[in-house]
Amino acid sequence: MAELKLTGARKSFANIDVLHGIDLAVKDGEFVVFVGPSGCGKSTLLRVIAGLENVTSGEVLIDGERVTHLPASERGLAMVFQSYALYPHMSVAKNMAFALENMGLKPAEIQARVARAAAMLRLTDYLDRKPKALSGGQRQRVAIGRAIVRDPKIFLFDEPLSNLDAELRVATRKELAALHAKLGGTMIYVTHDQVEAMTLADRIVVLNAGRIEQVGTPLELYNRPSNAFVAGFIGSPRMNFLPAVVTSDDGTLRLTVGERELELPRTASGLVAGARVTLGIRPEHIDVASDTGMLGATVDLVEQLGGEAFIYASAPGLPQITLRQDGQSQFHRGDAIAIRFAADHLHIFDATTGAALARP
Ligand SMILES: Nc1ncnc2c1ncn2[C@@H]1O[C@H](COP(=O)(O)OP(=O)(O)OP(=O)(O)O)[C@@H](O)[C@H]1O
Ligand SMILES: [Mg+2]
Repeated sequence: MAELKLTGARKSFANIDVLHGIDLAVKDGEFVVFVGPSGCGKSTLLRVIAGLENVTSGEVLIDGERVTHLPASERGLAMVFQSYALYPHMSVAKNMAFALENMGLKPAEIQARVARAAAMLRLTDYLDRKPKALSGGQRQRVAIGRAIVRDPKIFLFDEPLSNLDAELRVATRKELAALHAKLGGTMIYVTHDQVEAMTLADRIVVLNAGRIEQVGTPLELYNRPSNAFVAGFIGSPRMNFLPAVVTSDDGTLRLTVGERELELPRTASGLVAGARVTLGIRPEHIDVASDTGMLGATVDLVEQLGGEAFIYASAPGLPQITLRQDGQSQFHRGDAIAIRFAADHLHIFDATTGAALARP
């Protein structure tokens, strides 16, 4: 198993710059997840690590050794793709053994590795089947098995679960977490599903338009996002962003939000009267008060999920606000509510750059 380092990794296709200089260190045994919107460069970054694409400039190091110009076959990594493309005419065992046969391993060694991987992935009873006689989840496990038998230095996964239905995704996600605990290998995993990122990652790398926005543990990113992009990407439903103007910041921060004046017993970093900021507050950090809240709002929609409810409400001069209630909501469309932000969970971002100015 191995550690990985990228320094100033840039990638351009013709005149399109896709990666703008990525610096990243992944520790031995770490499970790192790349997240970001479609087209931000997640797959390209993974392919650069795998050696399926060459960097335009910068370096790739595995265990301190420069592999920047080594082909994929010489990097000792294994990649699992979204479209797992098993060989349809080969049995499960043969699908897993194939690469090892090409590497010239002895039959006894191959059989031992396949048996071990199959046991780990609960595929032992399916070794003689062809892929078409397997469920989607079983096929995806075979694809993972093909990577495991090669005993790679680093596992690379590119959205391996996105072809599975919701239930199977959750089950396979848990299996992957268990597999990482068992194998202890270095794993790099691409997804645009922030729940997968939160649940699997030791650390998450948030990418946006070919740049790293922030790297941190799931809870670091949730609790202390360094900018509005990360804040909006991590957490579901998404954080609310409300435009506000600072009126004073002298031990107490006073802001105009919509048609209301809010007073917060805290300061931000040197804000002056007139500064335009964005308040960030997660749906789970807003309370509904039936009496006096910070803002008056009208309920647009209630989504009852049984164990929790989401309320979408409008307040004058502000974008629609999402709030989460534990259990079942007693509110209905058209109800007047008063909402209160948990001030110690309020984020303040620069309205122009999105940089965090004050965090909980
Ligand atoms: N071979 C290529 N030639 C030109 N442009 C490319 C090539 N491969 C990728 N790109 C461009 O690079 C950008 C990043 O693509 P990439 O596949 O890395 O995104 P992604 O983050 O994996 O997106 P998704 O979540 O949709 O899979 C996109 O704008 C894409 O069009
Ligand atoms: Mg991709």
